[in-house]
Amino acid sequence: MSVKNITVFGAGLMGAGIAQVAAQNGFKVVLSDVTEKALQNGLQIIQKSLARVAKKRFAAVSGQEGDGEGAGWTREVLGNIKTGTDAGQAVSSSDLVVEAIVENLEIKRNLFGFLDRKADPRCIFASNTSSLSIGDIAGTCSAERLTRFGGFHFFNPVPAMKLVEVIKAQHTSQETFDTLVAVAKKMEKVPVSAKDTPGFITGRLLIPYMLEAIRMAERGDASPQDIDTAMELGAGYPMGPFKLLDLVGLDTTTFISNGWREKAERGEIPKELVAKIPMLQKLVDEGKLGRKTGQGFYNVSRYDGPQYR
Ligand code: 3HC
Repeated sequence: MSVKNITVFGAGLMGAGIAQVAAQNGFKVVLSDVTEKALQNGLQIIQKSLARVAKKRFAAVSGQEGDGEGAGWTREVLGNIKTGTDAGQAVSSSDLVVEAIVENLEIKRNLFGFLDRKADPRCIFASNTSSLSIGDIAGTCSAERLTRFGGFHFFNPVPAMKLVEVIKAQHTSQETFDTLVAVAKKMEKVPVSAKDTPGFITGRLLIPYMLEAIRMAERGDASPQDIDTAMELGAGYPMGPFKLLDLVGLDTTTFISNGWREKAERGEIPKELVAKIPMLQKLVDEGKLGRKTGQGFYNVSRYDGPQYR
């Protein structure tokens, strides 16, 4: 199936990034969220990231910074993005819906149940969830739509990270899977195939690693700074677990580990992986959510790259 029009739900870091890479690669995008303020914030994230990409791309071509070509390209990309708060209208001519809203099963299920009645029957639905089951999220849709429902999991920061996990759930058809793979490639990403299991590939390895790093600091075994330095210089990771936690967002990490707690109750993953962590909860309660609020485990400049104090 050929995809031209993509609707992205959720104008946070992930949704904005997905909308941006889709628009950069010629798709017509509608970015939708519940408030105008959220949409403006999403557009601001996109503009900052596009400025970064344009500066690099066009400086390489012309040897100058911020020339007319870069500005023209940025305008063209932004011209591919429309925004709207009316969810039904946002999917009226959509070939593919990518959902990147809050990691809450009931809210996602409600959204998809509503969209199922509004979108064209041929429209493919996909979720960017990192922790919930695609089958559970899709449960409010018709049997026909379930064949057109898959997982489409991007990584933060979306414009820079090359991977997309394409998840084939129980009812996902081969045609839907192949279409998602083709869209990922057109977005200049590298798709990998994963089953609908907790955390898919990357999250199943990364989340326990990040949570264990917090427990290690909480026990006083090592400081967050030393743990980061150890993993960066000793294991060659681009950023240590605490910098990564600040990047992903401590709220998102908490949503993920709460979601996994239910899976642990059902015996799908070991319970000790998701035991509550007071140090994480305290930061979230204080509104210190990482880069997005300027403070998490580190004091960080808002969206200004990895400058840690
Ligand atoms: N927009 C556009 N481009 C960006 C960008 C952004 N927001 N952020 C980084 N980049 C680009 C830079 O322009 C640069 O491009 P170049 O190599 O072509 O010049 C490249 O990315 C590297 O950026 P920097 O040189 O500024 O900085 P670093 O070399 O330190 O890289 C990083 C930054 C890419 C974030 C790197 O530190 C990294 O890979 N960190 C790990 C990130 C990670 O693991 N993400 C996954 C998190 S888990 C997740 O997302 C799942 C979720 O569902 C929970």
